[in-house]
Amino acid sequence: MATKKAKAKSKPRTNAKPATKKSAVKKSAKKVVQFQAKKPAAKSANGSGLPRPNTKPWGQAGLALQGVKILDFTHVQSGPTCTQLLAYMGADVIKVERPGVGDITRTQLRDVKGQDSLYFTMLNGSKRSITIDSKNAKGKEILERLVKHCDVLVENFAPGALDRMGLTWDYINKTNPRMIVASVKGFGPGPYEDCKVYENVAQCTGGSASTTGFRDGPPLVTGAQIGDSGTGLHLALGIVTALYQRTHSGQGQRVTAAMQDGVLNLCRVKLRDQQRLDHGPLKEYSQFGEGVPFGDATPRAGNDSGGGQPGRILKCKGWETDPNAYIYFITQAPVWEKICDVIGEPTWKTHPDYAKPPARLPRLNEIFARIEQWTMTKTKFEAMEVLNKDDVPCGPILSMKELAEDQSLRATGTIVEVDHPERGKYLSVGNPIKLSDSPSEVKRSPLLGEHTDEILRQVLGFSDHQVKEIHDSGALDPPQKVAAE
Ligand code: COA
Repeated sequence: MATKKAKAKSKPRTNAKPATKKSAVKKSAKKVVQFQAKKPAAKSANGSGLPRPNTKPWGQAGLALQGVKILDFTHVQSGPTCTQLLAYMGADVIKVERPGVGDITRTQLRDVKGQDSLYFTMLNGSKRSITIDSKNAKGKEILERLVKHCDVLVENFAPGALDRMGLTWDYINKTNPRMIVASVKGFGPGPYEDCKVYENVAQCTGGSASTTGFRDGPPLVTGAQIGDSGTGLHLALGIVTALYQRTHSGQGQRVTAAMQDGVLNLCRVKLRDQQRLDHGPLKEYSQFGEGVPFGDATPRAGNDSGGGQPGRILKCKGWETDPNAYIYFITQAPVWEKICDVIGEPTWKTHPDYAKPPARLPRLNEIFARIEQWTMTKTKFEAMEVLNKDDVPCGPILSMKELAEDQSLRATGTIVEVDHPERGKYLSVGNPIKLSDSPSEVKRSPLLGEHTDEILRQVLGFSDHQVKEIHDSGALDPPQKVAAE
């Protein structure tokens, strides 16, 4: 909380110089006056050397990353997730795409004939698009201008592709020593470092698949794109951290997020369990109560909770026909007695087999079966209402349809409707991170090369004549196809 003193410091500029100071200055010797005049403006304003807090109402002083210029060489999902988030935070994201082709996702999984797909539009909002053939001589010149102009280059090409374009770290660092070069790769240094990687490969190599699914079934991938979008989020953190370090180091650096590492980071509780296995069975896993011995690796645990409070997905009214009529139910210890009352088992509150958490662990199947008898008498929303009153941690299994229609998510901007000039309205996920002084506005994704001329002229300062030369050079044309012999 702001102290009285701090509050006074953040008063509008007009109040920064108290009337008494004026008279004090008048009385001072000339030298002192000169010295005061040389003081940095921020220091004299704030007394701490820090910039003066702005006086505009919250949300009206610009966006958090305003002024940050991103040279966006990303494609598919991982990199675009990162740069879209930076764009939501206010960065100017200039997406470089191959002329005539663009990001491959523009045409993947198309729902509207001939139009940019949802795969593309939902990952590239709030960006600008410039098409440049990075292998054309003039194209390379434009890229050099962009390297000089931008703060961050973000890419997620296959290993070596950026170097093959001539954009090596040495070249970039020499051309613009302040530039941060951020990359997603499938793997870090090691036996697989040269491999191309997509989402599910990362889920499988990062520990997620081996720990997802049921014990008696095969490894499973999850619908959440923890390899692609998850690594994009990791990269975004790396970028803003490097930007912060640059404020005092004055220089750029390389930021790398490997998808395997990102998935493993998100699976760290399973690495926790791997080490716990050395000290005995994992008692919160259903298989413990079922008497099934543990092997030497963290097993798949179905819908068991990954934490210290046992939980399960339980059927609710209508489960026979509705694939999402289920609720996640956590038997959190502090509310155990209330749970006993709700499900009609008041004697479990004191019974030695059920009263304390350790006694319950070998009986989880029996306990959840009993709770499920109760949840099956309620819809997932009715159950939620009853349980919430007693602070039981639980959540309905919400379908994508339900989420798309959820008005509270619309109200917070987590789900946004965006209008697109060619394909019409579509839903997108807005910024899931809310900053009180930097509200995100989600703009539609750009058409392929929509901002090419705008960027050449306004950002890079090319004259009309130079822009014509660039057009004539072939740098903006699709690469020539070599005829098969
Ligand atoms: N002008 C000319 N060429 C361009 C270009 C442009 N504007 N933009 C891209 N290219 C070229 C690159 O130079 C490269 O060519 P090269 O291999 O001849 O040097 C090529 O297009 C793109 O290469 P690549 O990244 O290998 O694409 P891909 O479609 O074969 O592979 C991935 C896709 C995702 C598997 C791969 O990029 C990858 O492993 N990326 C890292 C991990 C990752 O992010 N995976 C998740 C994706 S969601």
